[in-house]
Amino acid sequence: MTPENHTGQELTPETLDLLHKNHSRLSAGGLPALLDDEARFHSFSESLEGLLFDFSRVLLDQETLEVLMEGARASGLEARRDALFAGENVNATEQRPALHMALRSPDVLANAGGEEAARVTAAMNTMFEWADELHEGELPGSPGEKVRHIIHVGIGGSLLGTQLVCEALDRGTSPLTVHFLGSVDAVLRERLIRELDPAETMVVLVSKSFSTGDTLLHGRRLRDWLARNLGDEQGAKRLFAVTSQVERAGKFGIAPERLLYFSDWVGGRYSLWSPVSLSAAGVLGSHAFREMLAGAARMDRHFREAPMDENLPMLYGLIGAWHRNICGYPAWGVMAYDQRLRLLPAWMQQLVMESNGKSVTQDGRPAPLATAPVVFGETGTEAQHSVFQAMHQGSDVVPLNFIGVVRPDHDDREAHNELLANLFAQLEALAKGRDAEATRAEVGEIDDAMLAQRTFAGSRPSELIMLDRLDPKRLGMLLALYEHKVFVESVLWNINAFDQWGVELGKTLAPGIQAALAGKAVAPGGLEALLDHVARVRGQ
Ligand code: F6P
Repeated sequence: MTPENHTGQELTPETLDLLHKNHSRLSAGGLPALLDDEARFHSFSESLEGLLFDFSRVLLDQETLEVLMEGARASGLEARRDALFAGENVNATEQRPALHMALRSPDVLANAGGEEAARVTAAMNTMFEWADELHEGELPGSPGEKVRHIIHVGIGGSLLGTQLVCEALDRGTSPLTVHFLGSVDAVLRERLIRELDPAETMVVLVSKSFSTGDTLLHGRRLRDWLARNLGDEQGAKRLFAVTSQVERAGKFGIAPERLLYFSDWVGGRYSLWSPVSLSAAGVLGSHAFREMLAGAARMDRHFREAPMDENLPMLYGLIGAWHRNICGYPAWGVMAYDQRLRLLPAWMQQLVMESNGKSVTQDGRPAPLATAPVVFGETGTEAQHSVFQAMHQGSDVVPLNFIGVVRPDHDDREAHNELLANLFAQLEALAKGRDAEATRAEVGEIDDAMLAQRTFAGSRPSELIMLDRLDPKRLGMLLALYEHKVFVESVLWNINAFDQWGVELGKTLAPGIQAALAGKAVAPGGLEALLDHVARVRGQ
């Protein structure tokens, strides 16, 4: 699919017009009026194998949902989904497919072509073998040699998903601890090499391109640290890489037997399913990691097969477009009421904003529709004590995505009830608010000025995902659901969710500035004063 022959079509002006009319109609009574319907939860929720998606607190009715679905069909959503899974070049500006689903769904891998599919399968199998060795605390390829710490070096998609998985899932009895190094800032690395014993440490450099400055700089320092402390030969045994650019990794000094490959059709932010997550698979063990892949595959199958009105990613994407393009909401908050999902917002920021933060359609026109919202998030109940004032009474309405888990992996029922009670209270408070009469009834007689401060307009939408448990399968389903939701939105906006040209400009400017900072070049125009300031403070 090239920009010339693309078949995409954003939501049409006619659909948008109809949707705006629906919005005006629904806005009159707002969410409180819709929530009067006691059957609403049943009509506006869907579930799949232990994952409930409750969108009853979104300002939508059946009629509006029909218009959205009709608009999606006219945008070619089903055909574009099929093209995605078939391995067509849906990433038109880079002329390649986006086949991250192939890492978890064997039938999709078949669409990658025989040779490549075999190469991917071999790499995945090696990852599983290494994961089990690591899980027992053994250095892959060096029987009897211990590993207690992994330093996972990578940035963006080469770190965020892996770190999220490591934190979210139960590590069992593994003696391993994984440390993550992302930003080129040396502070964490210096701390780590002060604390860790190189003879018990393994370093994994994770970079799809194997050209990312942050990762390579850390990599050089850690390669030298291992060699200095253990000697060249022993040090090299503890240095591993995961990349789609195996030649570059080889030139860097990674031996082929310590290198895991993944295909260039796996986008960075979609790569947590690949050997990128070697360190997570090591902590969890291959069995748990495979279960997570199976959960994601279940969501893939659902996305491909379920009718639109029961299709979780489709419904979710439609709601995203409704909020962004019709309600005009600029942001989206991700509030997980489970500490294990503490890192979900960071992963989601990249997923949503790097995928859909675009202003140009697939065929190169200025995008007529607003695209990705600003994403932020926090765990509950911490969010309640930091950002929720603005969520309830701020001048911008921000739709929130809540996540809860019915059965936690601990026995403190009282604490868990308090957590869930807080979550459900937020849903209700945001949706229904509290009018003047109810406020007076609650707080007693107060003057009008005070009354205004203490009332809540309500009608603030939220979506809720409830997981029966946060186990590998449900985590896989959850993350795949978000991936596909983002894809659905990209179709409705007719943008390419799989490229990221916007990150390039800053990258091209940085080397010249770095040379100036090192005193090897003159400061680029516009930055002289700032660089002078740095030099003065440094006493140069
Ligand atoms: O700068 C953006 C980006 O290319 C992301 O898309 C990617 O996840 C990250 O950098 C890391 O890239 P790499 O894996 O090639 O080091």
